[in-house]
Amino acid sequence: MPIKKICCIGAGYVGGPTSTVIALKCPDIQVWVTDLNAERIRMWNSKDLPIFEPGLGDIVNACRGRNLFFSTEVEKHVADADLIFISVNTPTKAYGVGKGKAPDMTSIESAARMIGRVAMGKKIVVEKSTVPVKAAESIKRILQAAENKNAQFEVLSNPEFLAEGSAVQNLFHPDRVLIGADQTTDGCCAARLLAEIYEAWVPASVILTVNTWSSELAKLYANAMLAQRISSVNAASELCEVTGADVSEVAKAVGMDSRIGSKFLEASIGFGGSCFQKDILSLVYLYEHYGLQNGAEYWRQIIVMNEYQRSRFCRIIVSAMFNTVARKQITIFGFAFKQNTGDTRESSSITVGRYLLEEGARVNIYDPEVLEHVIISDLTTDSTLQETDQGLGMNSLEVKLRDRVTVCHNAYKAAAGSHAIVICTEWDLFKALDYEEIYTSMQKPAFIFDGKMLLNHAALKAIGFEVHCIGKRIQN
Ligand code: NAD
Ligand code: UDX
Repeated sequence: MPIKKICCIGAGYVGGPTSTVIALKCPDIQVWVTDLNAERIRMWNSKDLPIFEPGLGDIVNACRGRNLFFSTEVEKHVADADLIFISVNTPTKAYGVGKGKAPDMTSIESAARMIGRVAMGKKIVVEKSTVPVKAAESIKRILQAAENKNAQFEVLSNPEFLAEGSAVQNLFHPDRVLIGADQTTDGCCAARLLAEIYEAWVPASVILTVNTWSSELAKLYANAMLAQRISSVNAASELCEVTGADVSEVAKAVGMDSRIGSKFLEASIGFGGSCFQKDILSLVYLYEHYGLQNGAEYWRQIIVMNEYQRSRFCRIIVSAMFNTVARKQITIFGFAFKQNTGDTRESSSITVGRYLLEEGARVNIYDPEVLEHVIISDLTTDSTLQETDQGLGMNSLEVKLRDRVTVCHNAYKAAAGSHAIVICTEWDLFKALDYEEIYTSMQKPAFIFDGKMLLNHAALKAIGFEVHCIGKRIQN
């Protein structure tokens, strides 16, 4: 029986775009995207979608109300769907055993328990969230333990490889679609039905069916190896600065080797985003779980390097500005973890902003997509502080820092009167700004710290800026 109705549990950065593209490409399938978060669902049903993703709005408009629906009635749509995507969040655990390393599987488990309870008939349950190896086994046990005589389950792994900011293009033209299934007749049959959905627009040659554990591990490894490339080139950047080499030139030369390839070799202030760090930590935890300390240590270094790169960049800023930024106004251009998204999870801008605030600076922020309350919360919320200000509902650190943070809605206004600009996100629009005008409005000497190697440094120097960047020594 072909799939007629899909229910996706979790209307986030993965569940929303993935379901929308399936609805577009498979008009005969009803796709219900469900979430417990009523505000998120309200936004998916409005003209202001809860996430910024280029091209997504048009597709949602084309499909919503036709064969794409957003609802908080999770159980109702799980009950009669043929196929259920579990696309809930799996953040790093913030408490208890495995704190700071293991993925928090609470949402996965509660989704699985609910499916076990309410499902009717034959169900294909698809693990779309990124999970540790053997998570599908746990889901299967939870479903069996529900002793639901009205339902039969087959569990598949189908990790998602989209990157934020290019999600629609990645979903339209995936490098591969990975399906992990039990090597049984029922498992192969379920994998075939899922593959048929993707075959509506993806060439069969890039749909790869493997065993469930390979699929789960491949997802963690793909992210770990992408992040490893960034940490490798970031490690090179420091060496370039002291030797006089230029990291862009080194990366270009290295990447022209077809065995290495040119992508993901851009030096930066470190990778951000909700996936890389979380998934490497999950991998490290997995190695440790099996007593494999060498592998754990090897992958841990990717994160150590990333953190080092961030703090190194912060120290470059303070050191160049005569060893103090106290009471100086510093403008951060870009708060999202990369361009074309409003997502700030694990953004390096947070580290830079907090560092500058702790050093006593006043910080202006301009980002074209990130919401003001998100910036304020990311910079000032310190969950480790218990003392709260009754009146404001904020702790005392938040109150103190809030006074020194200004979120701006215009790059020129943000920079005016500042001692320095710090580029933290690779938004293209920062390249097109009039830096002569900006220079005129700033305190002198006017500094630019380019954490993304985004701007034309020679042109900035010619205007009069003192320029610092990652991976290249600039004579000022
Ligand atoms: P997200 O936080 O944006 O969305 C998850 C959603 O699930 C939230 O809206 C939450 O309310 C909802 N949810 C949680 N528990 C629920 C439940 N029991 N019932 C109904 N809804 C529930 O997360 P995301 O970024 O979409 O990531 C989801 C998963 O996909 C994670 O495992 C992540 O690692 C993986 N992933 C993310 C990306 C990415 O670019 N963000 C890419 C590939 C894979
Ligand atoms: C990543 C993976 O790319 C994607 O396949 C997976 O499904 C989810 O995790 P995402 O985190 O959305 O996607 O964005 P990505 O483009 O990978 O960028 C992550 C971070 O690395 C960003 O902060 C980006 O600025 C940084 N980056 C990327 C670099 O610093 N240098 C590079 O060369 C590339």
